[in-house]
Amino acid sequence: MSELNTTWLGLALRTPFVVAACPVSDDVDHLARYVEAGASAVVMRSLFEEQIIAEQMAAHHLIDGRTDMDAESRSFMPESGTVTLGHEHYIRHLERIRARTGVPVIASLNGVTPGGWTEMARDLEAAGAAAIELNLYEVATDPQESGSEVETRQIETVRSVVGAVSVPVAVKLSPFYASVPAFCRQLAGAGAKGAVVFNRFYQPDVQLETLDLDTNLHLSTSAELPLRLHALALLHGRVALDLSAAGGVHTAEDAAKAIVCGANIVQMASALLENGPEYLAATVAAFAGWLAEQGYRDVAEARGVMSLENAPNPGAWERLNYMRMLAGWQPRAKRR
Ligand SMILES: Cc1cc2nc3c(=O)[nH]c(=O)nc-3n(C[C@H](O)[C@H](O)[C@H](O)COP(=O)(O)O)c2cc1C
Repeated sequence: MSELNTTWLGLALRTPFVVAACPVSDDVDHLARYVEAGASAVVMRSLFEEQIIAEQMAAHHLIDGRTDMDAESRSFMPESGTVTLGHEHYIRHLERIRARTGVPVIASLNGVTPGGWTEMARDLEAAGAAAIELNLYEVATDPQESGSEVETRQIETVRSVVGAVSVPVAVKLSPFYASVPAFCRQLAGAGAKGAVVFNRFYQPDVQLETLDLDTNLHLSTSAELPLRLHALALLHGRVALDLSAAGGVHTAEDAAKAIVCGANIVQMASALLENGPEYLAATVAAFAGWLAEQGYRDVAEARGVMSLENAPNPGAWERLNYMRMLAGWQPRAKRR
């Protein structure tokens, strides 16, 4: 039987299957069933920059209010940065997940501007987070801010989180960069240890009848995977980052595709929310079967065999495949 263990950001994991940031981790006992089914680590839901800043502002108001009443009160009030309100719940939950599951727990921060809020990463590390996943979810809206300014700000944010902790930091990023490989190189330069490709954009649809927004969240399908596979194949061996697929991993076959394209791990949300822990156990078993059938000793041996690491000109290769696909299209009648 092939070995299923892998590594992610220097963490030794017993399988490449990881619970992505999503409601699967909300209930600790429920989550434990996914861990028994083969999930080797858990990414918690995100704490948002806006949420943290709002808490810090509230803490300031609390302190300032007391200070006005009593000039001596500063001597016994904690520093504003250490006052904890809502994120206290997050930290308690992190501790509960660690104690109940025994697998590495990755805390998730979501933000795009460098600043005091990033120091929250330190509290998460102190609570036992094995790593931090920083989600750079951002839709550029300001016509005055150029793409390179957006990227510089995001890289500073990464640097700020990396500087706050000694545990490894991974960055979950969007596919919308002029050059994903160049941005990833900058991430590595800023001290990140891994890239999670890609964020899924929950863009509300428009309801024409009411001229309102349809904000229903639709879960993914495997159709979202190829975008990730391309990025993995392009990045593997060419940037100094571990790689995780996220988005569209629903089956053992999907996971196998991500691994041969260069992923260290696959993160799953939709398939777990839809199908439950037994489905994950069956997926892990099917993946192990595939690995053995192909004759791979372990995951590391399969990783990246389909990557573009050794392609002399990956850009030309991508364009050629694009041309081939367009030229090869046949009307339905001819395909039969
Ligand atoms: C209900 C729900 C909540 C989510 N919350 C977060 C979150 O807090 N932070 C985050 O980075 N991703 C979050 N995600 C995104 C997932 O982590 C994952 O990237 C996305 O669902 C794509 O993976 P999938 O195709 O396996 O669903 C959430 C997804 C769902 C469905």
